[in-house]
Amino acid sequence: MGVMEARAANPREARAAPALGVRNVSVTFGAATNRPVLKDISFDVREGEFLTIVGPSGCGKTTLLRLFAGLMKPTSGEILFDGKPVAGPSRERAIVFQDYANALLPWRTVAGNIALSLERHVPARAEREARVEALIARMGLQRAATQFPPQLSGGMQQRVQIARCLAQQPRIMLMDEPFGALDAITRQTLQDDLLKLVAEKRMTTVFITHDLEEAIYLGDRVHVLGAHPGRVVETIEVGLPAPRNQLTTREDPKFLAHRHRLFGLLQGH
Ligand SMILES: Nc1ncnc2c1ncn2[C@@H]1O[C@H](COP(=O)(O)OP(=O)(O)OP(=O)(O)O)[C@@H](O)[C@H]1O
Ligand SMILES: [Mg+2]
Repeated sequence: MGVMEARAANPREARAAPALGVRNVSVTFGAATNRPVLKDISFDVREGEFLTIVGPSGCGKTTLLRLFAGLMKPTSGEILFDGKPVAGPSRERAIVFQDYANALLPWRTVAGNIALSLERHVPARAEREARVEALIARMGLQRAATQFPPQLSGGMQQRVQIARCLAQQPRIMLMDEPFGALDAITRQTLQDDLLKLVAEKRMTTVFITHDLEEAIYLGDRVHVLGAHPGRVVETIEVGLPAPRNQLTTREDPKFLAHRHRLFGLLQGH
């Protein structure tokens, strides 16, 4: 027992552990007799990896992300973060929503939205301002700093949401179709900016998308969820070279092979 405790306390061992563990998780909404939305799902999110999750509408992707964030509890099974059960939301796990219009406060400026999570946790105003300024620069929002979210394009609003997430200095970013509503060019720019950002910060990321190509382009691994009930039907190790490139990565025979495989799976073949 003493030995076990000593091992768990060793920070090097803690880093080697998976960031998130999903252990036999099932979710049923309403009466226990209802069909489960997620059924007996188990997998790990590795420390520092970019995991993408793709699956048909209604298969439980958002539900899974809400479990990771601690916004809800599984009906059975367990979610582990750093080896400990997730009991509720934490600043260590930041979430980026698809619906940016409702995720930001329309009456606060861009800088004010980014400062939000710092206000309770960083008492010194000068430090708060310095951190906000650095995030504004990092996300390319300099010209928007004093504007309000409804004055910005969708792409810029998503940059603000990502900056606000980073302000809380999370260990893991949970992203629910964050680029789903953006046009193709804006989306590709944000994909590349996000990849650069997470590589810089070595941030563990779980990214949900409907888009097969986005899943392959961004991911170190792709989990494919099936529906009724939601479960992992396949995991693909992407194995494409980094940094990714919008032209050459998407033309790589490996990318195309993954695309064929995923397309077939999601068509139910
Ligand atoms: N709070 C809730 N109460 C009852 N049913 C719910 C609740 N939340 C989700 N569901 C149901 O669970 C299933 C999975 O929902 P979820 O939002 O996780 O799917 P999704 O994979 O994110 O879909 P989409 O791709 O359309 O966003 C759906 O059938 C949905 O209607
Ligand atoms: Mg969803």
